Amino acid sequence: MAKNNSIIADNDPRFKDLDQYIDSIRNEEGTNLIVLQKAQGIFGFLPIEVLKHISDYKQVPLSELYGVATFYSQFTLTKRGKHTISICLGTACYVRGAQKVLDKVKDILKIEVGETTEDGLFTLENARCLGCCGLAPVMMIDEQVYANLVDLEKIPGILDKYREEEVNE
Ligand code: FES
Repeated sequence: MAKNNSIIADNDPRFKDLDQYIDSIRNEEGTNLIVLQKAQGIFGFLPIEVLKHISDYKQVPLSELYGVATFYSQFTLTKRGKHTISICLGTACYVRGAQKVLDKVKDILKIEVGETTEDGLFTLENARCLGCCGLAPVMMIDEQVYANLVDLEKIPGILDKYREEEVNE
């Protein structure tokens, strides 16, 4: 099962740190952006519970906060995995079977594009041309490129490597 948002309880102690920060800048103008930055620093992402909390505590409309959080790419509303998998769906990769690569990864991880695995290890994304079309079809995990994935049977082993690293850490 995918985990897009983990529920953060109302009594999560981290809200106290956030409230203290909001109090410390309460007399300043235009602080939505820096409060959201602080909140993301504390929680790692900005789930709806956090946005609602800020809205209540700071007395600003939720829609305003949501607008800022979705406008700036520095913010993420869903929990990110430790590793980001980007499957290139650019033309060169697409004609060489990128959709099958994507389907295989989705099938193994049991998540859709934009989701994070339950264990928090992987977030799956699409990409538009990763700049190495000669190696198509291509998948990137963090900064590492995996090329020529025409043979789909390579994929489970690649993903297992990350799982094993996790176990050995
Ligand atoms: S189209 Fe996939 S790397 Fe260029």
